[in-house]
Amino acid sequence: MDPQEFLQLAKTRRSVRTMKPTPIPPEHLEMIVDAGLAAPSGSNQQPWHFAVVTNKDLIGEMAKAAEAKVEEIKGRITSASAHKSFDGYVQYITFFVNSSAVICCFVEPYRALLERLLSRYAPECSVSTRENASIQSVAAAIENMLLAAHALGYAACWMTGPLIAKEEIEALVKPEGKWELLAMVAVGHREAERELAAPPRRKREETVSYYD
Ligand SMILES: Cc1cc2nc3c(=O)[nH]c(=O)nc-3n(C[C@H](O)[C@H](O)[C@H](O)COP(=O)(O)O)c2cc1C
Repeated sequence: MDPQEFLQLAKTRRSVRTMKPTPIPPEHLEMIVDAGLAAPSGSNQQPWHFAVVTNKDLIGEMAKAAEAKVEEIKGRITSASAHKSFDGYVQYITFFVNSSAVICCFVEPYRALLERLLSRYAPECSVSTRENASIQSVAAAIENMLLAAHALGYAACWMTGPLIAKEEIEALVKPEGKWELLAMVAVGHREAERELAAPPRRKREETVSYYD
């Protein structure tokens, strides 16, 4: 593979929030999920579960749950400016109602191998990497899925905003076991062909240091 092609893919991926909910062929959804499953994970624990929701009613119910939660929270707040902020933000939480598929990403917190070794043989050095390692593993899978969706030409967005209604969404979609909803990935068809401008990035000089 031409490395420039990969860089171009990574650099042109955008969070696309305006999407058409026409169905995505199952084989494309499978390719997207397969990219996630290929991600690295701490101690190769693969502490993830991906629930691919294409049922429109269920997607609608999840969005309604998030919207209702925002309203409930607004009901407890009297500040008019806070209401305005919530009103402005709610679209970033509920736009997935127009997606073709929502991939609910669940994490199972686990003890990384290093943490198990340290707690057994050198408890004084034990650093809790538990949640950290499992969350990083699922995050790696999510980015892989976003890149795969982009490579296939779909609109997609990583979302944690809907977790405002985490319990309510988990009541609708959750595998058996100790899974916890970590994020959702909305995938749909792009509304327009035009490229979205990249939100500004912090400069390389500010964010990267080299120790030669
Ligand atoms: C952990 C995480 C959570 C995010 N949650 C949301 C969200 O709930 N709603 C949303 O519209 N965008 C969400 N985003 C997308 C970010 O706003 C977006 O990545 C950022 O503005 C940079 O834009 P880009 O993805 O187009 O480069 C999330 C991104 C990440 C990594």
